[in-house]
Amino acid sequence: MQKEPMKVETLRWRDGRIEMIDQRILPAAFEYRTYDNAAGVAESIRSMVIRGAPAIGVAAAYGVALEALQQQSASRETFYAAMNTGFDALAASRPTAVNLFWALNRMRQVWQSCETQALPQIAQHLLAEAHEIYAEDIRINKAIGDHGAALLPDGARVLTHCNAGALATAGYGTALGVFRSAIAAGKKISVIADETRPFLQGARLTAWEMVQEKIPVTLITDNMAGHLMQRGEIDAIVVGTDRVAANGDVANKIGTYMVAVLAKRHNIPFYVACPLSTIDLNIATGADIPIEERHPDEVKGFRDCHWTPEGVQIRNPAFDVTPVELVTGLITENGVVGNATLVKVGLGEWMAS
Ligand code: MRU
Repeated sequence: MQKEPMKVETLRWRDGRIEMIDQRILPAAFEYRTYDNAAGVAESIRSMVIRGAPAIGVAAAYGVALEALQQQSASRETFYAAMNTGFDALAASRPTAVNLFWALNRMRQVWQSCETQALPQIAQHLLAEAHEIYAEDIRINKAIGDHGAALLPDGARVLTHCNAGALATAGYGTALGVFRSAIAAGKKISVIADETRPFLQGARLTAWEMVQEKIPVTLITDNMAGHLMQRGEIDAIVVGTDRVAANGDVANKIGTYMVAVLAKRHNIPFYVACPLSTIDLNIATGADIPIEERHPDEVKGFRDCHWTPEGVQIRNPAFDVTPVELVTGLITENGVVGNATLVKVGLGEWMAS
């Protein structure tokens, strides 16, 4: 008998708390962790229990709502102090994905709009907003999926880097959502997943998601991508993003820039699946996007297995920036923005039109 695919609920609201799949231990183990306040959610983001730009934003929104629920019987003064501490902890959890700050701004606006109400009412408004951000994210991913699927020819072999799937969002995924929609539209596409050193989001998470859904997937190490492109074995690339600057420069998982350079060399379209909440019009170019530098242990090996000599110096930037000229198009929920529009019109004007 064929096994049913496991239901991927990256986050779920249960009995007044938020539960998240612990992505550090997938696919060896499938376990949920439970959080009931902002500090706990901030730590879950920092330690990568949950990761991926949209998922981080959704988690942060629940972190704010949980803190409000915790403090709803306290004095107004205590409530304000705890909420501000919670916002600060969440904002400090990871620096690159703008969705985190976008979600926190949205939650702060809701708080401001009802701040004269009783504390339990404020908490309920914040919880309703977190639920809305969650539901909205899935709707947006499905729209991105449909726009992106139209770009992929039947039979396309599509490379992706990192994990921009259901696990990186509230559900469905951005780049992997494009693959899901293409398959749903009857296209026989296959996926090539970069392993994505050092945290192995491709090998552990993208490969797992695709196997769960029986979408054909082939895993390669990151340094094999150029070889496959040279041999004509890759027809398109679709990746996610953590932040897009106003000029269209794209920050995504470390190694994405290398893939984009190779794609240009081999004339392969390079698409970025990008919810509008990932566009940061306050940042002019990619040079100003904050790049997270993570712990050296991640490069030394994996989990408890280290293969480097003691004393070696290590760098571990977690993201890189792909300049706009290498981006064929951004796939958003409102349609695809091609390179010509990105370069000549700019994202601000496109979004306003
Ligand atoms: O360090 P991570 O795993 O949070 O990095 C995730 C990525 O780089 C994703 O590609 C990006 O967040 C888009 S997810 C839809």
